[in-house]
Amino acid sequence: MSDPSPLEKEIRRLIAVGGPMPIARYMSLCLTHPQHGYYVTRDPFGAGGDFTTAPEVSQIFGELLGLWALSVWRMMGEPDAVNLIELGPGRGTMMRDALRAAKVLPKFRQALSVHLVEISPALESLQRHNLGDADVPLTWHRHLIEVPEGPAIILANEYLDALPVHQVVKQADGWHERVIGLNANGDFALGLAPDALPQFDRFMPRKIKEAPVGAIFEWRNDIHAFDIARQVRGGGAALLIDYGHVESDVGETLQSVNEHAFADPLSAPGMADLTAHVDFQIFGQAAASMGAVVQGPVTQAKFLRELGIDARAEALRRGATPEQAANITAAVTRLTEGGRTGMGEMFKVIAICDPKLGALPGFVPA
Ligand SMILES: C[S@@+](CC[C@H](N)C(=O)[O-])C[C@H]1O[C@@H](n2cnc3c(N)ncnc32)[C@H](O)[C@@H]1O
Repeated sequence: MSDPSPLEKEIRRLIAVGGPMPIARYMSLCLTHPQHGYYVTRDPFGAGGDFTTAPEVSQIFGELLGLWALSVWRMMGEPDAVNLIELGPGRGTMMRDALRAAKVLPKFRQALSVHLVEISPALESLQRHNLGDADVPLTWHRHLIEVPEGPAIILANEYLDALPVHQVVKQADGWHERVIGLNANGDFALGLAPDALPQFDRFMPRKIKEAPVGAIFEWRNDIHAFDIARQVRGGGAALLIDYGHVESDVGETLQSVNEHAFADPLSAPGMADLTAHVDFQIFGQAAASMGAVVQGPVTQAKFLRELGIDARAEALRRGATPEQAANITAAVTRLTEGGRTGMGEMFKVIAICDPKLGALPGFVPA
């Protein structure tokens, strides 16, 4: 057996000192530990990395989001200054493509201050490099609450799924936090906190309240939805794209991905990506409780089609070689197709906005 990594040693130490830890704490350490976290130590994107995201599949994705932001800015009454915020910008590809598309309206570009919320110094460096020639003010933050107040448009792709998730398991006396401890061999092992969480399901949807003993439910801290709703309260909108379920449900979705393959979440902490599906119902309810209006979720396929992905692909193909044209078609298929390999149905798009705004592009009822 190979020597444990520094992060594994650190997690063992924390468990030895404080006892078994909630899965959310383990996930947070694995992904964002300041020295050894997965996102802090590497660039995980693309064919040579662990996974590929929509902005890395095609430039059209970021371009359409840039045009979406432009339309929202118009609906906001074209304020002279607007914060364009991206949460978890990865390589910076989506923002680069969005800013290029925004060039169609110089007045919009001039109004922009771009704020990138990125926990990883390594990815921040990559974003600085990739956005180096953007002629708009760029500022980096570790947390959304550090972004100045003011009219805001927020974009986030595959950000929520990377945020720590708790698991609870239904027992006869209520819901118990699932924790990670050490078994007799000294290996990481799942267990349950001894006491039920008081009144855990009091405000939960009926499906969760009525779940059978043994059911697992995953939840995230509402603070993420609260922060986003607060940021758009002064006029503005947030657009979040992620995989997940439209209605809250029981089930375990925590997964570990390494080199485009699934791995055991408890093995090699910090060396693989850990994610869990987004519960859009709970997320939307939390945002709405802060006075924001929720639009969607709709599928990524529907959203991109309404924003004109097919016309944009056709325009790009006109100036392309046959090989490039085939790549454009394949990329659009990947972004919009259903099933297990396509992103079109699995990924959903939700908007959180100021109540003064009407139906946002991509969410207009048929
Ligand atoms: C799955 S990647 C998605 C990257 C990019 N949006 C894309 O679609 O290619 C998640 C991104 O969120 C960042 N991230 C993860 N946890 C974060 C946190 N708690 N606060 C801020 N950024 C975080 C990661 O470093 C990374 O940039």
